[in-house]
Formats: sequence, C-alpha cells, structure tokens
Amino acid sequence: MDRFIIRGGRRLTGEIEIGGAKNSGLKLMVAGLLTSERLVLSNVPGIADIKTMRDLLVGLGITVEDAGPRTLSIGGEIGSVEAPYDIVSKMRASILVLGPLLARAREAKVSLPGGCAIGTRPVDMHLKGLETLGAEIRLENGYINATAPDGLKGDRIILPFASVGATENLLMAATLAKGRTHIVNAAREPEISDLVHCLNAMGAQITGEGSGTLVIDGVEKLHGAHYAVMPDRIECGTYACAAGITGGDLLFVGGRADDLGAVIRTLEETGVEVVEEARGLRVRRSGTLQGVDIMTEPYPGFPTDMQAQFMAMLSVAEGASMITETIFENRFMHVPELNRMGARVNVHGRSAIIRGVPKLSGAPVMATDLRASFSLILAGLAAEGETQLSRIYHLDRGYEGVDRKLAACGADIARVSD
Ligand code: EPZ
Repeated sequence: MDRFIIRGGRRLTGEIEIGGAKNSGLKLMVAGLLTSERLVLSNVPGIADIKTMRDLLVGLGITVEDAGPRTLSIGGEIGSVEAPYDIVSKMRASILVLGPLLARAREAKVSLPGGCAIGTRPVDMHLKGLETLGAEIRLENGYINATAPDGLKGDRIILPFASVGATENLLMAATLAKGRTHIVNAAREPEISDLVHCLNAMGAQITGEGSGTLVIDGVEKLHGAHYAVMPDRIECGTYACAAGITGGDLLFVGGRADDLGAVIRTLEETGVEVVEEARGLRVRRSGTLQGVDIMTEPYPGFPTDMQAQFMAMLSVAEGASMITETIFENRFMHVPELNRMGARVNVHGRSAIIRGVPKLSGAPVMATDLRASFSLILAGLAAEGETQLSRIYHLDRGYEGVDRKLAACGADIARVSD
C-alpha cells in the first residue's frame, strides 16, 4: 500500500486546478441508466470512485467508453438489474442505481450498503420514497428486491431529513414515472442542481432546484446529452484550508464562490482572506488564525465534508474552537490521529472542543476515511518534522493528484509504495 511522506513548515503559494466534483460526477454517471442513448460527461474527475461506478454500470450491461480526456460516453441497454454486494460495499453511492433501474427496467436487486467508517448510513428514506412512487420492496439476504411491474407513478414525497442520496434516487426515478412528483424537504446541495440541469438536458421536466421542493413531471423517455460536471467545491474548500494552515496564498482555478458560501464565511472568520478572481478563487492568510465555532448542516449550511479539514486548521489557531457534527454520528475519526500530532481536541458526543496549539509535530498516522485523510495531510503540512500517512487508498477515492498539486505549490510531499 502507498503512503505519503510530508515534511511540514512550508508556506504554499501558486495555483491549483480544481477538478470535476466527485459527488456530482458519480450521480451523473448513474443518470446514464435512464436512456439507451449516449450521455457524454466531460470534466469527470480521475478518482477511484469513478472507476468503481464505471465497473458497476458495466456490470449492469451499460457501455461506458472513454471519449476524450476526462470524458465518458455512457449508454446502451440494461442487461442486468443486480448491483452486487462486492461493489456496493465498496462505494455507498451504488445505491443510487436503485431508482433509475426501477424507472427504466421496472425491477432492481441492489445489495444493502453496509455502514461505513463515519456512520451506519441507512437508506430507509430511499426505500420509503420509492414505495410512495409505487415500487414493491422486499429485503432478503442483504439485498433490496424492488419491482414496479406497472411502472412508477408520480406522487408527493416528504423527506423527514434533507438527505442528498434519497433526493437523488427519487429525483431520477421520478423523471420516468407517470404524472407529477413533488419531493418536499429535498436536499439543496449544488450537486443536486447539477443533476437537475443534466436530467433536464436529457429531456426531463424538473423545476425547483436549489429550493426545498423539487417538482418532476414524468416523461416517456429521456434522450442523450453532453454535460460538463461542475467543479468540486469540497476539493476547493479542502485546499483552501491548506492555504489557511500554512499561511499561504493559492489560486484555485475553476473554484466557484457560489457553491461555498458557508465555507467562505467561516474561512474569513478565522482570518483567511478569500477573493474572487476571473480564473477562480484566491485564498490567502497573512495574519494569525482565529478560533471559530462551526456546526455542520445540510446546504446552504456548513458542509459536513469540510469538518475534518477545518479541525486540522483550527488545531493551530489562536484560542479555542468548537465543532458540532450534526449529519453523521461518527465523523471524528481524525481526532485521535490529530492529537498524536500534538493537537488538543476533546470530543463530547457530537461536539469537539479544539484548543489551539502553537505547533504540531510530525508523526506516523493512519487514514480512516476520505476527508479525515486530508485533515492529516493538512496537519502534516504545518507540523514540525516528518509525517507519514498510511492507507491513502481512502484518499484516492475522492482526490486526484494530491501530491502533484501540493508539491507544485511548494509542499515537501512524496508518495511512496510500501
Ligand atoms: C452524500 O452522502 C455525500 N456522498 C457525502 O459525502 C456527504 O457527506 C453527504 O451527502 C451529506 O452532504 C455522495 O454524494 C457520494 P445523506 P449521502 O443521505 O447521500 C442519514 C464524502 O466525503 N440518512 O444526506 O449518504 C444518514 O445516515 C461523502 O464525499 C438516513 O438516516 O448523505 C446521514 O446521517 C461522505 N436515511 C444523514 O442522513 C436515509 O435513507 C445524511 O445522509 C438516508 C440518509
């Protein structure tokens, strides 16, 4: 397995190209199930989860072809309706094929996704919503067996929580249902809007994106389209913390301020400056980092996917900070590792108290999940001495070319194979 070796203390300056969004690209690939015509997606990130999704779609009989740099052409007839455990257990987003398979093939057999490092992550809202649209669902031997022999029928769905995945599954299913569907208390993340724009480009009739209610008028069939995946706002926010923790000055080419409102406001509260420029977002820090309080919430609140990265940065801020994680029940796995580097973080239930320290010290640490892995890189960039980060396959799932991008801005980081 590969490791990163980081020697801290360098101030990062330069430019970082922001890639296509993982949490949009994966869903747009699934949208390719909704038509036999070609959906051509550009600006697709080169990350492990995209490869896993490609394997899943090919297993369903769909063709996924390279059509240029970071461009995939997806389409064809559905040959199988089974999403097997070995793929679903690797990537939870696989559950999103359930709605499209029901809509297009009127049946689906999808493994129940297991839990993961950050929580149990049930899919009850996905299943209840699909039953509201007329699906019959039975859970057997760890699989979801779903059928809709007469096709899906539009209806009104009220989500108890603005679940991103449930919104996406139900949205895609409703595009081919008979009649109108309302999804009330729908998630409002920018990645949902990206999916709505792509589906509408394919001939779907969806309004209300960005609001809490999506209205979908089902159509007979969807057609092919060309669509560019939005830039990855979490990748941009993650590297912004690298500028913050090293007192650097970085330009994120392709970064969009519109998608990062709460993150930008919080960065500015800590003393990090964010400036919109023609080519993207510039983030720099010249003064001291100040402690702040953060509560993760559904969009447009502070994103849970940025929590670990901010904790690393705040561990060397002046004063104390409190971070409350309201979305996932176990998303503080990075805390023990940060503390091994000299941070002073105490977890009390869903809140963590961070007392800023003047310096972190490099140490051998282990990645546990995607965003926690990056928080340890950020700590290593600021720490005195050498940090060795193992199990970086967690990182490869969602970040492309981390060592290349950071080294180009002056970081002393190398990827080595065990
Ligand atoms: C998506 O996960 C993202 N993943 C996550 O990013 C992100 O953290 C999350 O949305 C919240 O923004 C992808 O887009 C691939 P949810 P998802 O459904 O759809 C509970 C990353 O690091 N819930 O909004 O699974 C659930 O347990 C990943 O890129 C139910 O109880 O998130 C969780 O506590 C991590 N029942 C909360 O809702 C359900 O049926 C939020 O889940 C569905 C969800």
